[in-house]
Amino acid sequence: MADTKLIDLAIEASKNAYVPYSHFPIGAALVAKDGRVFTGCNVENASFGLTNCGERTAIFKAISEGAREFEELVIFGKTEQPVSPCGACRQVMVEFFEKDLPVTLVAEDKSTVVMTVQELLPYSFTDLK
Ligand code: THU
Repeated sequence: MADTKLIDLAIEASKNAYVPYSHFPIGAALVAKDGRVFTGCNVENASFGLTNCGERTAIFKAISEGAREFEELVIFGKTEQPVSPCGACRQVMVEFFEKDLPVTLVAEDKSTVVMTVQELLPYSFTDLK
């Protein structure tokens, strides 16, 4: 399980969520192998399909800052059960993470479930072959 500092970073990130439509804030914290931590939140749009999820924000921030190797990801949601990442985010995880990378899913009460990328998206589409 991710340490509490990382979980707290994801919770802090969720406070920046721009969620006027869903009122469902998500925060994420992504640890790169070089030690950098990238946080993210969901950013919604009146054209709903343009919304960017919290974990994808963190991943895209990391990629745009040159990080390519990652240790772990934490995702926090104000949910009763540990939050479940959407299918689009799972596919983006497969693009950039090793299949055994641990993803800690965190509920509002800070209860957690840890799943690997492989468990989140088995038999995934990974390339054009
Ligand atoms: N959301 C995330 O940020 N991550 C997920 O994996 C699930 C969904 C956001 C998108 C939207 O802003 C709100 O939660 C409701 O779907």
